[in-house]
Amino acid sequence: MLISTEDDVVTAQPGRTHNIEAMRQDYYARIAKHDMAPLWTVMSALIPDEPVTRCKPTIWHYDDVKALVMESGSLITAEEAKRRVLILENPALRGEARATNTLYAGIQMILPGEIAPAHRHVSSAVRFVLDGKGAYTAVEGEKAFMSHGDFLITANWAPHDHGNTSDRPMLWLDILDAPTINFFETSFGEDFGSPTQPTTRRDGDSLSLYGSGVLPDGTAVMNRTPVINYTYARTRPIIERMLAAGEIDKRHGARVRYANPITGGPVLPTMGAHLAMLPKGFAGEPYRSTDGTIFACAEGRGTTTVDGQVFAWGPNDVFVVPPWKRYHHNASEQSVLFSISDRPAQEALGIWREGR
Ligand SMILES: [Fe+2]
Repeated sequence: MLISTEDDVVTAQPGRTHNIEAMRQDYYARIAKHDMAPLWTVMSALIPDEPVTRCKPTIWHYDDVKALVMESGSLITAEEAKRRVLILENPALRGEARATNTLYAGIQMILPGEIAPAHRHVSSAVRFVLDGKGAYTAVEGEKAFMSHGDFLITANWAPHDHGNTSDRPMLWLDILDAPTINFFETSFGEDFGSPTQPTTRRDGDSLSLYGSGVLPDGTAVMNRTPVINYTYARTRPIIERMLAAGEIDKRHGARVRYANPITGGPVLPTMGAHLAMLPKGFAGEPYRSTDGTIFACAEGRGTTTVDGQVFAWGPNDVFVVPPWKRYHHNASEQSVLFSISDRPAQEALGIWREGR
């Protein structure tokens, strides 16, 4: 029989300890049969004193990645695979198709002449172009031809397909908010009858129309950017200009945030990205924030120290800094780092924090 709480306190003495523990275990077993559990045994795990992550800091070196991805080209076609991608799985989250707890990352390859057929899905995707020139991503009627360092947006439910009309393989980093969408159990997706979508706009139209300080009359406010391709050719000179002007953040370098040009907000409600130039010899101050971040090196060489662990990076290497882990960057050459995280989602929920 269960004794009252007041009795527990009064009688929690040597000799009674074993007894009360046995009674508790019996009680837990009985409530478990009714699909209930005591909060007090899990309270500290449910509400820890500071963020706890399952995700580990990790790096994928491009030399290894490229060789392995190229090998997949002889095993399966892009059309057969729908998307020929090797997932970058966080070593602490194997089998879960995620690089951080909330973001998926993968390396996609498309060979000359191949098409990755048109589809759409609720998960938003972005691409950061690593290698090759001249393949395209078609999104909402705009066929965007891609080059190294370009940053492309495929928003929630936007039809998209890829094709390679160049004579070289093309590889890029895909990041999707799929783990977030699947956390909410809200994922839909569909294929189209034809492998490609009709082209209704010219390459570069969306960047020119919406990203030039003017807006076409009647442009509606959206919670995601209308720009399909933030080209490296446009963005890199901006961070170079900031660097030259000495506008260098002590933690992040000369950094810009990719913005929705209509609202000034993030490119997507679930994901936000930055591009930073670090001068040669940059020794960044320590930083941490609650958004687990995926970095890709566009240029240069350096190291990022995460929680005391040093990761050396070079061109096209991809690495992960987990939430609330302290890190700092060092650049041995002038370098450019792309980064992306779930920060906009955290900010919308009022849970994002940063610190030293
Ligand atoms: Fe897709």
